[in-house]
Amino acid sequence: MSSPLDALGAAFYDVCHRRRDVRGEFTGAPVAEDVLRRVLSAAHAAPSVGMSQPWDFVLVRDPGTRGRFRDHVLAEREVFASELEGERAETFSRIKVEGILESTLGVVVTYDPGRGSPAVLGRHAIADAGLYSVCLAIQNLWLAATAEDLGVGWVSFYREPFLRELLGIPEAVRPVAWLCLGPVTHLEEVPDLERHGWRGRRPLEAVLHEERYTDAATRSTASAERSMSSEVVEKLETETRR
Ligand SMILES: Cc1cc2nc3c(=O)[nH]c(=O)nc-3n(C[C@H](O)[C@H](O)[C@H](O)COP(=O)(O)O)c2cc1C
Repeated sequence: MSSPLDALGAAFYDVCHRRRDVRGEFTGAPVAEDVLRRVLSAAHAAPSVGMSQPWDFVLVRDPGTRGRFRDHVLAEREVFASELEGERAETFSRIKVEGILESTLGVVVTYDPGRGSPAVLGRHAIADAGLYSVCLAIQNLWLAATAEDLGVGWVSFYREPFLRELLGIPEAVRPVAWLCLGPVTHLEEVPDLERHGWRGRRPLEAVLHEERYTDAATRSTASAERSMSSEVVEKLETETRR
């Protein structure tokens, strides 16, 4: 029995599925201050371990700063490209990995492990829980921006010390993401990496376990027993071999 969704629920799922990582579709048009504020407030409403709220948001509009960051990112792109061979190198050469100058602004999201320390409730056994919290703020920002018809592109082709130095981020604080943000011509329906043949989204069945973390082979049989369509099974098996 499926229960019907109301319009708000449907709108939420629509945003989840419409969200894209944007590189080539930024227009550079301004973002109204009240819209930016709503998006950042959504990020700031994220859950966090021990209510530590370990994030900060640095808004980078200056073209000089963005240009210096872009040069660094392009150099790091070359570092990655130099590790690739054959078809991978060829495919990667066609993929754009950032929209730093084309977007309206950069939002750099940082993680301060010292916030709420020393006794961060819930982090004593899992230090990474602080970092997870920052990623949830980023995801809230990403979904809110999508709801506002803005695009977001996460750039991670950088060395943390470089970005720290560029923006005056203290040594103990980690830059977690440079997010390109701004109006876009449109959001692609299919992720860039999939369109360019780099890697596709795995079927849900490939990552779904029941009761225990079973291996792929067992799961593929179990899934087939649950009468999955042969097309999905085939896709799953191709993915499993990768
Ligand atoms: C932690 C993280 C880092 C990423 N870094 C980059 C990046 O440096 N450059 C880029 O073009 N995309 C980057 N992406 C975007 C992914 O490539 C993208 O999310 C993935 O291909 C799925 O596409 P979609 O977000 O449009 O669904 C990053 C995403 C995440 C979550």
